[in-house]
Amino acid sequence: MTIKEKLILNKLPRHIAIIMDGNGRWALQKGNSRIFGHKNGVNAVRNVVEACAELQIEYLTLYAFSTENWYRPKTEVNALMSLLISALNTEIKKLIKNNIRLLTIGNLEDLPQRVYKKLSEAIEITSKNTGLSLILALSYSARWEITNAAKKLAEDVINKKINIGNISDKEFENYLTTVNIPDPELLIRTSGEYRISNFLLWQIAYSELYFTKKLWPDFCKDDLYEAIYDYQQRERRFGKTSEQLKNQVNE
Ligand code: FPP
Repeated sequence: MTIKEKLILNKLPRHIAIIMDGNGRWALQKGNSRIFGHKNGVNAVRNVVEACAELQIEYLTLYAFSTENWYRPKTEVNALMSLLISALNTEIKKLIKNNIRLLTIGNLEDLPQRVYKKLSEAIEITSKNTGLSLILALSYSARWEITNAAKKLAEDVINKKINIGNISDKEFENYLTTVNIPDPELLIRTSGEYRISNFLLWQIAYSELYFTKKLWPDFCKDDLYEAIYDYQQRERRFGKTSEQLKNQVNE
């Protein structure tokens, strides 16, 4: 039985989020430049998007460029921006053909004009697609997102659009960049690092975390199935007891 065949199809996560890490180390191990690692990282992105679409996963969020990544050497930042444009150019047909809707989260105003334009075009062209929603986190950090949400909420309080008494966690979510997107049930990080690195801090409150030593360019469909399989073996209690969950099922 293959790992894909072992998956329980009615127990798939609706939303998978991935911290794609290890491009640089992968390239250095091969005596190549970090940029070579990012280029090969695009192949892994293609495979994972394809696998999620095949499994009919609803949302896939990829941490493609963090707020902190702007502090990398200028040549690397420029190469990543160019890579994003060339990937959008080559993959757009496939996104359309496979009914994939492209979305972004992050401070897009920080992106170079050419990247912003290309992304906006791709988002517009795929906006009516009803299959997988592929969400690219670009110039994103969770602390930026939460601070930004707090500012917008404060503005609405000042403008009397909302009463302080009515602010709940559900209401707060309306101010996050992920509004209307369900929280990820599964968060994957590659490369053997055990960190969250400022990614979706609010949304992963109850996510199952999965860490693998694989470097991102080596991450393939079977690795994704392995992560989902692992997720499916877990008991998600959301603060309740095991007994309560069993009784819920039997009710
Ligand atoms: C982390 O590896 C990876 C990134 C900062 C960028 C991820 C970008 C891609 C996979 C390519 C473009 C993406 C799309 C969606 C087309 P790292 O550089 O931190 O690796 P290291 O930890 O080994 O140095």
